[in-house]
Amino acid sequence: MTSDGEAKKIGLIGCGAIGTVLAEAIERKIVECDELVIYDSDASKAEKLKGSLDFPVTMVGSVEELLESKPKVVVEAASQQAVKEYASKIVAEGIELIVMSTGALLDLDVDFSKVHVPSGAIGGLDALSSAANAGIDEVTLTSRKNPKALETADKEEKVIYEGYAQEAARLFPREMNVAATLALTVKPVKVRVRVIADPAVTRNTHEIAVKWRFGEMFLRFANEPHPENPRTSALAAWSAIKLLQSLLREACYKNQ
Ligand SMILES: NC(=O)c1ccc[n+]([C@@H]2O[C@H](COP(=O)([O-])OP(=O)(O)OC[C@H]3O[C@@H](n4cnc5c(N)ncnc54)[C@H](O)[C@@H]3O)[C@@H](O)[C@H]2O)c1
Repeated sequence: MTSDGEAKKIGLIGCGAIGTVLAEAIERKIVECDELVIYDSDASKAEKLKGSLDFPVTMVGSVEELLESKPKVVVEAASQQAVKEYASKIVAEGIELIVMSTGALLDLDVDFSKVHVPSGAIGGLDALSSAANAGIDEVTLTSRKNPKALETADKEEKVIYEGYAQEAARLFPREMNVAATLALTVKPVKVRVRVIADPAVTRNTHEIAVKWRFGEMFLRFANEPHPENPRTSALAAWSAIKLLQSLLREACYKNQ
């Protein structure tokens, strides 16, 4: 409960790999929450998640129903399509929205004051946004994944995409949220992207090279893929958990 006695209610759209890690973190009290309201367009996913949890969970049949339950924060862990369909409705209700499918935000007209982008499968965005104020010359993302995570059958290392973040997020909506998150951080600077299918790697690896006005940066992340969804890195779910903790803490202070 917040100091004014209001329940800490969280809404979750998407009960797959990320949604499940998030719900389990709530169950383990890593995130303070009195009730989780869940929605998935595949009701069997929501049922399975609810059945696996031992704390108050309400399953709803639509986003409208989810909004009627008045959550403080909604986490989207579903798809770019879900963001396009629901983001405006959610923020119009004054609810904070955490977006995982960040590719959808690149060309979405929405009130961004209530939209929160977690660092996802990467990090260091604080340094990039600091540098962006001074001037960034170049950002290059090289993502290396096992062919299984890219749904290809390559037996040898192969560059399967080279281009820019906007296009990458459109062509690989489920794999290239990292590129979109970077693009949103350094906007209007364009982010160069290379995607490599590499049978030698088991971890999803993202290398970010930045040249900016007063120096250079090189960031590297080698993330274990989620066992049920090899496209998704565990770090992505944990970044949503971290952001959720901060937003709920802020909501608590505002109510004091
Ligand atoms: N920001 C990042 O760095 C990052 C990292 C990994 C994944 N992601 C993105 O996060 C999202 C969730 O990832 P995941 O691994 O949990 O996916 P997942 O496929 O394991 O689960 C997604 C769930 O959402 C449901 N869903 C899809 N569209 C929906 C809609 N329109 N309405 C309601 N439910 C819907 C599906 O039925 C599924 O159960 C994906 O879009 C993924 O690309 C972002």
